[in-house]
Amino acid sequence: MDGKIGLGQPHSSRMYDYFLGGKDNYEVDRQAAAEVLKVWPGIRTAARANRQFMQRSTRFLVDMGVRQFLDIGTGIPTEPNLHQIAQRGEPGARVVYVDNDPLVLAHARALMTGSGLGATTYIHGDVTEPKSILQAPELGEVLDLDEPVGLSMIALLHFVDSGTEEIMSAFVDALAPGSYLVICTATADFDPEQVATARAIYRARGITAQERTHDEVTGLFRGLDLVEPGVVPPHRWRADQMTEVSPSYDADVSCYAGVARKP
Ligand SMILES: C[S@@+](CC[C@H](N)C(=O)[O-])C[C@H]1O[C@@H](n2cnc3c(N)ncnc32)[C@H](O)[C@@H]1O
Repeated sequence: MDGKIGLGQPHSSRMYDYFLGGKDNYEVDRQAAAEVLKVWPGIRTAARANRQFMQRSTRFLVDMGVRQFLDIGTGIPTEPNLHQIAQRGEPGARVVYVDNDPLVLAHARALMTGSGLGATTYIHGDVTEPKSILQAPELGEVLDLDEPVGLSMIALLHFVDSGTEEIMSAFVDALAPGSYLVICTATADFDPEQVATARAIYRARGITAQERTHDEVTGLFRGLDLVEPGVVPPHRWRADQMTEVSPSYDADVSCYAGVARKP
């Protein structure tokens, strides 16, 4: 796998960092992000809604007794990171992070400062190669796959456009009963033109991009029991303290999220 930080081409992690107001991005990322912002001005709102969903879903999993987490497509560290949320609820929680961006690898140390009681580690890996992640020695050192795991793929699967069924089966089959799958991924259901134009901008820059319908996102949870409220925009997932949102908020976010349990 190429471990170099390519500066000639934008990367989804650094564009996302830019949308979130971070500083770990380069001119090439900012230019591509500016193009996307022109057609999808609400994408910063989408990025924030994703991060908030990550926090709520992680707290939910801790409440459900999950003590181990596998977070694929982690992104550049953005506080609070998943292990901070998990270890706030359960100091002994163990977290394995995975991303395929060399810049995330360069920042991985920031992801490994846990509570001291739990453990966190980082694997430079690709979600399209499940075996290389599941069989990585670092994963085995931190996670016990015979016990439930919370597997999260938040704002990741819209960067995967083929083989998704096999990928999901490989991961879900490896999880113990009582594990949970957490997904948030882009949809064009609320604003087809905005999302199609943004997809074209990503693809023109060599980044795979693929939105999914509500049925397609629901299909990603095949064989699992979706927890209430099912597949909904991330800001509508167990958001009991949701502040007032504008009528265009669903289109601004243009993502679906869900959490399901392996029976
Ligand atoms: C939009 S960011 C989401 C970050 C974080 N999960 C969140 O929701 O805040 C997507 C991340 O997925 C990573 N990514 C994209 N394609 C990937 C792949 N095939 N395998 C692993 N990670 C990937 C990118 O490098 C990026 O860090």
